[in-house]
Amino acid sequence: MTDETTPRPSAPGDERRDRPALSRKNLLKGALLAAPVPLLLGGAPALARTLRPAAERGERLAPTPYCDDGDDPTPPQMEGPYFKPNSPRRTSLVEPGTRGTPLTVGGYVFGRSCAPLANVLLDFWQADENGAYDNVGHRFRGHQYTDARGAFELTTIVPGLYPGRTRHIHVKAQAPGRPVLTTQLYFPGEPRNATDAIFDPALLMTVRTVGSGKEADFDFVLDVPGTPPPTTPPPDPGATWRAGTDYRPGDRVAYGGAPYTCLQGHRSQAGWEPPNAPALWRRS
Ligand SMILES: [Fe+2]
Repeated sequence: MTDETTPRPSAPGDERRDRPALSRKNLLKGALLAAPVPLLLGGAPALARTLRPAAERGERLAPTPYCDDGDDPTPPQMEGPYFKPNSPRRTSLVEPGTRGTPLTVGGYVFGRSCAPLANVLLDFWQADENGAYDNVGHRFRGHQYTDARGAFELTTIVPGLYPGRTRHIHVKAQAPGRPVLTTQLYFPGEPRNATDAIFDPALLMTVRTVGSGKEADFDFVLDVPGTPPPTTPPPDPGATWRAGTDYRPGDRVAYGGAPYTCLQGHRSQAGWEPPNAPALWRRS
């Protein structure tokens, strides 16, 4: 894949998803996401990379998981040495003084049945513009949850290169009560893609140049066979866990008759009760 250039800058103040350059994709996705699941199952999913025929771009598309394959979830990749728990909950990793090329990464998370998945935990971490990871604090680290449409958006910068690797963003994705997918996202047109031993073309984002920045799309397909667990748990009169609470690492709660210790600071929400959230709670 090559880096697409889309010389259609948006008006100041436009929301990313309303930009004219993205309207076709978003209309299609919006229609699909508004449609009942049986329609989704019967039609080709409007994944970002499928919308523009490969021939138009003069290239062959690498195999990419579709949410209608039924057996091809987004492939895992190694975690690498720089993951840290307790990332802050935020959709923007840009802080005052951040340098680098602005980048937004947006997309959807689907299950294997093609249904978009809400409340999926996405924990991103990446190198700064110089290729360095912050292993002391949490610069360029943050987690967020997909919204009711299964959508996410990350505001960050294009990560720098470091020895031995091509350009990439790390991510862990977990639907409520499901295993964690650890993987990495890649940029098209990078010379090192050809020499990086673990580069996987199935994990290429679609990237456009917009103004002085970049916009990227990637849709995850998680190995979630059907409808995710209910987000409204049965009543548990003995529970001390509560939704809407800011928990810190080390906090202890009871849920379902068992004690749990918080592993990662977060604001609790329905669907992420301790038994459903092994990334956040350990049974103690
Ligand atoms: Fe890395």
